[in-house]
Amino acid sequence: MSHDKTSADSLQIIPGCPLRGELGPDGIYTLPGDKSLSHRAALFAALAEGQSHIENFLVSGVTQAMLDALTVLGIAWDLEGRTLRVEGKGFDNRQDNPEQVSIDCGNSATTLRLLAGALAAWNVPAILDGSDGLRRRPMRRIIAPLRQMGVNIDGVDGCAPLCLQPTQLPLDAVEHTLAVASAQVKSCLLLAALAADGPTSLREPGPSRDHTERMLRAMGVEVSSGENYTTCITPPGLRPLNPLLMALPGDISAAAFLIVAALITPGSQITLRGVGLNPTRTGLLEALVAMGGDLQVANRSQQGGEPMGDLIVSHSRLEGVQVDGDLVVRMIDEFPAFAVAAAFAQGATTVLEASELRYKESDRISALCTELSDLGVQVSEKVDGFVIHGGRLPRGGVVNPHGDHRLAMSLAVAGLAAEESVTVQGAQIIHESFPDFAPVLKYFGANIRSPG
Ligand code: S3P
Repeated sequence: MSHDKTSADSLQIIPGCPLRGELGPDGIYTLPGDKSLSHRAALFAALAEGQSHIENFLVSGVTQAMLDALTVLGIAWDLEGRTLRVEGKGFDNRQDNPEQVSIDCGNSATTLRLLAGALAAWNVPAILDGSDGLRRRPMRRIIAPLRQMGVNIDGVDGCAPLCLQPTQLPLDAVEHTLAVASAQVKSCLLLAALAADGPTSLREPGPSRDHTERMLRAMGVEVSSGENYTTCITPPGLRPLNPLLMALPGDISAAAFLIVAALITPGSQITLRGVGLNPTRTGLLEALVAMGGDLQVANRSQQGGEPMGDLIVSHSRLEGVQVDGDLVVRMIDEFPAFAVAAAFAQGATTVLEASELRYKESDRISALCTELSDLGVQVSEKVDGFVIHGGRLPRGGVVNPHGDHRLAMSLAVAGLAAEESVTVQGAQIIHESFPDFAPVLKYFGANIRSPG
């Protein structure tokens, strides 16, 4: 395979350039706003009464899917730069005979799952569909509990398209145990539970991200988090939800690629300001520190109920570790980036109890193992994870990100410190979550060739 092949949709990363500099509110580039919070802020603002004002909103492919959905639902919104304003319709906006709407959720499972819950509470009949990739994502995990709550919902073999039909409100309050720790499922059910006839209680096997709970609390809803990962919500009844006035923290899942990039590229030191540090999202930082990564946190603060701070990351000598249990949940989106760090670490890195990775934008266990091994990394696939024997520089080569934005960015990062260049085909997919990824790396000093 040729190592310098570029196409209109590829990114070629040439190794050998240290990364240095700072991303922050006063610089040319800032970290994109958190994806999970952006989805929630847009949708929850629609449920509130009055105008919400959200700064540092992530403007990207997946959040556009949510904004387009709001348009279909007749919600007025306006985006000026990265500031989103939404005219909330109120949550108790039930109509007697609403018309069925058809919503294209693109590649975004968050859009689809969260909307399913909100539309159930609003009692809006809808068809929720999306890309071929989205149609492969498992939806029984929301269909079954929503039905238990009395929602008239069905899918096709447990997948999208989902069809929501008119339902009798209020919905039934339930006690439900989730089979897998999932913030998308939990959030879907919490939203539906806003229209239930009493408190709903959800129990998870692990600590999934709690942004929904924090944001709903900020909007005046009674939500409590108890022992054994239990979340309890009391429906607000006729009390309207307060609009949101907040700036979103930078996305730690986007920062992950830059953090790993600086750790593996000799001579690097970068500062990332305003990174979201919600403890349900910081698993990667703990894993990298355990590997010997030089990662400092400064200027801790809170914004809209979400912790944040600045990260200073320097090139480090890494050693292999094992990741399993709750830590997997707290770094669920970071395994592509983590696997690249593992490829540069001395010794074996083992990831176990992570079969949920097979149900993301790609089967991340199989796709990571295939592509890293094509780059010359020694990796073996397990049913619920993988083992990477690192320490020898990846060769470089041409890789396929399997239509997965996080795989595309991680493989690109591997190219910064490989023996030869890495060409990522189908790199356009990066626009789904981090449109400025390549410009930011170039700004830090990376040598990247991209058409246009
Ligand atoms: C998300 C939750 C996670 C994560 C996804 C975003 C969210 O999915 O992988 O990228 O915003 O709630 P699961 O809840 O399915 O684990």
